[in-house]
Amino acid sequence: MCGIVGYTGSSQAAPILLDGLEKLEYRGYDSAGIAVFSKKKKSEPSIEVIKAKGRLKVLFEMTDSGKSVKGTCGIGHTRWATHGEPSVVNSHPQYAKDKRVVVVHNGIIENYQELKERLMRDGCEFVSATDTEVVAHLLDRYYDSDPIDAISKLMYHVRGSYALGILFQDRPGEIYAVRKDSPLIVGRSSGGNFIASDVPAILKYTRDVCFIENQVIVRLTGKDIQFFDVDKAELKKEFTQIQWDTEAAEKGGFKHFMLKEIYEQPKAVRDTISPRIKDGKVNLEELNLSQEELSSIRRIQMVACGSAYHVCMTARYMMEELVRIPVDVDLASEFRYRKPVLEENTLVIVISQSGETADSLAALREAKKLGHKVLAVVNVVGSSIAREADSVFYTWAGPEISVATTKAYSTQLAAVYLLAIVLGKARGMVDEQAEAEMVEELQRLPEKIERILEEKERIQWFANKFSHSKDIFFIGRGLDYASSLEGSLKLKEISYIHSEAYAAGELKHGTISLIEDGILVVGVATQSELFEKLISNMVEVKSRGAYVLGVTSYGNYNMEDVANYTIYVPKTMECFAASLVVIPLQLLAYYVALGKGLDVDKPRNLAKSVTVE
Ligand code: G6P
Repeated sequence: MCGIVGYTGSSQAAPILLDGLEKLEYRGYDSAGIAVFSKKKKSEPSIEVIKAKGRLKVLFEMTDSGKSVKGTCGIGHTRWATHGEPSVVNSHPQYAKDKRVVVVHNGIIENYQELKERLMRDGCEFVSATDTEVVAHLLDRYYDSDPIDAISKLMYHVRGSYALGILFQDRPGEIYAVRKDSPLIVGRSSGGNFIASDVPAILKYTRDVCFIENQVIVRLTGKDIQFFDVDKAELKKEFTQIQWDTEAAEKGGFKHFMLKEIYEQPKAVRDTISPRIKDGKVNLEELNLSQEELSSIRRIQMVACGSAYHVCMTARYMMEELVRIPVDVDLASEFRYRKPVLEENTLVIVISQSGETADSLAALREAKKLGHKVLAVVNVVGSSIAREADSVFYTWAGPEISVATTKAYSTQLAAVYLLAIVLGKARGMVDEQAEAEMVEELQRLPEKIERILEEKERIQWFANKFSHSKDIFFIGRGLDYASSLEGSLKLKEISYIHSEAYAAGELKHGTISLIEDGILVVGVATQSELFEKLISNMVEVKSRGAYVLGVTSYGNYNMEDVANYTIYVPKTMECFAASLVVIPLQLLAYYVALGKGLDVDKPRNLAKSVTVE
């Protein structure tokens, strides 16, 4: 979490830094700060540090959008507090005495306590509660006119994850950066060079970007960029051209990124599916998995966090039925520590939008350590998970800014469907005709999503009625249970309404005692085999006073016999239904949060990219 940015070149730095931080605010937004080599005294370089608690707009106001801060080289940070409450003193940049070394940090220094105690015994004074201040003091201690040497020493002493932007006071015009397990990119342009946690921060200025690998140190001046390894040997690095444009990361007339991203789903799903269909067949050659490898897979272990975990849940139901292969699903934070026992020929699939989620990355490494192949379904090109996996399936959702994921989720579902078809074929469970029918239906999904979006007013009207609820429950069976989990998460993360999702059959084992008069229960029912059973569960809650919203496919009109209100989605193959029912659930969450006047894109306490445990 936290976003860092840096610029050195011929233009005024502060407006560029603030501009970049604005694009990174999704990573954290409880405080922010910048540090710029000031031009006040030419003979004696000094670094001006400005920090503010609260949203970035406070820093914008304090600095007249950066215009009042002179200087052409600086670093910036937007924070999601881990060590120490959100406050000016805990916000970054952090620095050692006299600002000889100034740093911004994304990540966590795990041994900071031990390092801090040692530094304090040696007389070092700390002012903040952050782990980052330790980095500033250590660098200050190791620095003796050679920044690369100081950073390399630092790397041998700190444990944990970090992307650091560093200024050394006696090196005006120079930025140093280094990463381990937290994202960092470098950008170059004729007007100057950049560092950032993510591409949108600098896309306005350059498309020429290098994704920095772990344990690489970077030195930037306005004209030059050099890379070094931990032993200070210089490295050569490739730059790539970013293909998508800034508009993809702007609101484009929508009130919120979330709504814009909900509307981008037809395109995102199409972009993810289309390139993988060749002559009416699914082609996943990009994964570099041979037919032998595919058919030798005996079990699938899926791991992820948050919404991506719900995609895994969907995949389990879908793949076990279609491919007849056992699928285990784990939360990455549990998998990494539960000492998993994986059978031989288990394919591990890690799903992650950002490709940087700390627990998912650790789960990937754990699986590789155990000798298993890892296939990653990732949205961000060049991200850590993408780089470390054996095969990568890129979802082409484009940049997702809103903290609550929507389009990335939909493309992950599409990825899982394509994988299921390929695995099903390799195992002889999907024949040519079945493949052709599924491919045809997959290609129709975007247009069906569009049709649901056309009916958004009905959902908005309904959402307004329930925006003051205290509790909302979601129930479903099978695939619909997985969709319920996602609907419930979406709602609680942005509306702050307590919500739970239950496998409908499990409700009787305790949770039904929470049902009271007027409580909203959303019943998701798209699976014909389970439809009647779900209807019975809806009757059970309704007879205890619940107000029941049914979400089902056109044709299932007997839903109206029990539901107080029904939302229909177009019919599709039942194995793909999750892609359609999730749309009204996303819209419901969005409009409830909107009705409550909340900051939809930046819900409290959350961050989009969770790069800490
Ligand atoms: C955060 C986001 C969620 C996301 C989860 C996993 O909690 O708010 O939307 O599902 O992280 O992120 P990943 O990038 O690994 O998909």
